[in-house]
Amino acid sequence: MHSIVLANQKGGVGKTTTAIHLAHGCALAGQRVALLDLDPQGNATVALQGMSAPAAEPLFDLLQPVTDRLWLLPSVGNVATPTDASLDVDRLKALVEQLAAVVDLLVIDCPPRMDAWGWAGVQLSDEVVVPVQPEFFSMHGLSQMLSSLAAASTAFPGKARLRGVLPVMVDSREPVALEVLEDLRRNLGSKLLDSVIFRDPALVEAASHGKSVFVHSPWSKGALCYAELTWELMHGRSSIG
Ligand SMILES: Nc1ncnc2c1ncn2[C@@H]1O[C@H](COP(=O)(O)OP(=O)(O)OP(=O)(O)O)[C@@H](O)[C@H]1O
Ligand SMILES: [Mg+2]
Repeated sequence: MHSIVLANQKGGVGKTTTAIHLAHGCALAGQRVALLDLDPQGNATVALQGMSAPAAEPLFDLLQPVTDRLWLLPSVGNVATPTDASLDVDRLKALVEQLAAVVDLLVIDCPPRMDAWGWAGVQLSDEVVVPVQPEFFSMHGLSQMLSSLAAASTAFPGKARLRGVLPVMVDSREPVALEVLEDLRRNLGSKLLDSVIFRDPALVEAASHGKSVFVHSPWSKGALCYAELTWELMHGRSSIG
């Protein structure tokens, strides 16, 4: 089983949206995927509540089937947060070991803080994707985040390797956003993923209907951007490159 965590201590940068669409994208591409909602806010859980596949193969009690190849471990009441929202990293590790036998990919959504939950997600994952909005304040937080991740990959050998920084919510009509994107490419080089997630209201609408954009608006710009990201992360290169 391969595992990828979406992490950034900045709030509202598209971690949850990316976790959902990477998980569903890989499931649509044929992988068996578990999405672990590690954010006590439970946004990924809510954003998928309009999708359920009761006829899908039950894996174990805690996992809710979302499609025939995607299972969600919801935020509230999961094995790490039985009732009181306190984190039990050892139980979480045991769960991840159990998952390894039944799924190909684990995608983890983190809270907007590198607290105990955020670090648990990072320490349990092979790779980290850092979504970032190309704007000045996000850039400042990014260097901090990348240094913390470098320390984490030393502290947890074999885990927490930076897979790449993902530009999200990019508004192609904003010249400043495109300039910052160019700066990012110059400064980060191959650490910046090729895929770019453009701003698209279809992603907000899909979440408000409790569905993935691949179901709600499959031909939208948001769906195409996340299909591209899925391809890049599965095949190690962009589909256009
Ligand atoms: N590419 C996009 N275009 C337009 N809206 C987007 C896009 N990506 C995310 N959003 C919207 O922006 C808001 C924040 O996104 P999201 O919840 O994914 O961020 P987050 O980093 O998980 O937030 P938090 O830090 O609170 O967990 C949501 O309303 C989401 O629907
Ligand atoms: Mg979130």
